[in-house]
Amino acid sequence: MQARVMDHPLEAGGGERRSARQPSERMIGRVVACDGSRATISASATSLVGTQTDFWSIGRLISISMGNTRVVGLVCEMNACNGLWDEGLQNEMQVRIELVGEIIDRGDGKVEFRRGISNYPYLGAIAHRIRIADLLAIHDIGDRAGIEVGWLSQDSTIPATVSVEDLLRCHFAVVGTTGVGKSSAVAMLLREAVAKKPNLRVLVLDPHNEYAHAFRSNSVSLDSTTLELPFWIFSFEEMTDVVFRGRPTVQEEVDALREIIGAAKGRYRVTGEVALSSTLIRKPLDVANFSADTPVPYRMSDVFKIIEELLGQLEPRFSRFHVRSLRSRIESLNSDPRYRFMFGRATAEDCLDRVISSIFRVPHENRPITVLQLAGIPSEVVNSVVSVLARLAFDIATWSGGEFEVLVLCEEAHRYVPNDSSLGFGPTRAAIARIAKEGRKYGCYVGIVTQRPGELDPTILSQCSTVFAMRLGNTRDQDIIRAAIADSSASTISFLSSIGNREAIAFGEGVATPMRITFKYQSEAELPAAEHGAKAARNGADREINLREIIGRMRGGSETIDYR
Ligand SMILES: Nc1ncnc2c1ncn2[C@@H]1O[C@H](COP(=O)(O)OP(=O)(O)O)[C@@H](O)[C@H]1O
Ligand SMILES: [Mg+2]
Repeated sequence: MQARVMDHPLEAGGGERRSARQPSERMIGRVVACDGSRATISASATSLVGTQTDFWSIGRLISISMGNTRVVGLVCEMNACNGLWDEGLQNEMQVRIELVGEIIDRGDGKVEFRRGISNYPYLGAIAHRIRIADLLAIHDIGDRAGIEVGWLSQDSTIPATVSVEDLLRCHFAVVGTTGVGKSSAVAMLLREAVAKKPNLRVLVLDPHNEYAHAFRSNSVSLDSTTLELPFWIFSFEEMTDVVFRGRPTVQEEVDALREIIGAAKGRYRVTGEVALSSTLIRKPLDVANFSADTPVPYRMSDVFKIIEELLGQLEPRFSRFHVRSLRSRIESLNSDPRYRFMFGRATAEDCLDRVISSIFRVPHENRPITVLQLAGIPSEVVNSVVSVLARLAFDIATWSGGEFEVLVLCEEAHRYVPNDSSLGFGPTRAAIARIAKEGRKYGCYVGIVTQRPGELDPTILSQCSTVFAMRLGNTRDQDIIRAAIADSSASTISFLSSIGNREAIAFGEGVATPMRITFKYQSEAELPAAEHGAKAARNGADREINLREIIGRMRGGSETIDYR
């Protein structure tokens, strides 16, 4: 049983409502029923300001006095007796609470919170408004390094603190309907996390191009015109997905492609060592048999030469029709401006170091966050790009031997790792699942943001040990969260349909006790915002539309993705 000890900082200062002048203000009712997990309190209240009505509110914690201990309960249901309410009179009511844990007075001026109940409330026990010192003890994360993300919704004087190490190390998820403040909360979490951990690198997969605005001074943003992700970094499966642009493949063409890439890799010769593409392991290049998945670079010129050779064979191994069709697919990719990030600048001679250092910020030059603006990347290959990046993130964290830690933040994660395995792309799912399952050992973490937890692969969500659940109307989504979180109580989850914007229920490793919090307010400049929105605001709505600029952007690859 985890115990937390707290001083009574506010008790001494007189902030606690225990003074003899106000004895009745904290006494709010008496226990009239109790079972193993819940109790019922009978109370009375008037509607007048300053009376007890405001203590009784769903989601609040109250305490029940038991001598040396106080049982902590969470208000989950309330009824006015007789179903009537009379202004100005004392109204009888019954309140159901869920038993959360207990507070023990240690006698040295300190209090300790323990989950679970050892002394159940007796009938007639007095229910109190909870003391501030007790609330502090319940939500104290002990000596773990914390970041203040906001405050308790119950009492805005009490900070909501999250352990930064546990938040990252055990992966986290932020779920909630569109517009509740997920991205804004994530921007704040990331800003605080990189400030606390100088060796942390963050790669934000940003489908709406909104995060660059939130991290102006500490990030670089990459889009399809500035990203360099050379084709030879793509695994064979990823490359196949690109060549067929996410559509069903033609088996004979795939077989030909496998042979062509394998042969091109075999022809690649450089003097000295080359940093290799998919695992970063350095291997000698004079290995005789190269397969399409041998992690070495290759040249596009060799690919085209080998295709010509295949077409020139007297007894071709693959039908000319299929090889020609493959050639035209590769040619059109190679010349498509939207694919410049793969086929443009970084040729095989380019060193992997440069590519990796630009994506993973080594050295970071005070900009440890990389925002990858996916909205400019052709939608049909976004999945393969995410797969490559997640794989590289894992590899760089692993091979840095603890020097760097890498967090991959997946916005709209249900898109890359959908529940339905017939959707999405296998290697992307595998790369993200690998981080979720094995990453913590090597310093590679994943952060998941989604408005549709029900459409997300449940194995990924279950690996996220800290969850910030924001408003979720859909009961199926609520059930998913309930299943994913071991210590969530039924009544806590039922709040999810009604909590306000910027509010969340935080569960799991990163926090002391499940808590209902309000994320702190952020200024306009700190919030994520779509660049076109910001531009329109800057330039005024009547700015003449620059068609040439728009067409230029389209040619350069600004295809928007349907994220529904
Ligand atoms: N912490 C916050 N501080 C200030 N405004 C916020 C905060 N969180 C959300 N908002 C407001 O709500 C809007 C939507 O928030 P956003 O984070 O984009 O939601 P989501 O990602 O869940 O769709 C923001 O544009 C902003 O105006
Ligand atoms: Mg968002």
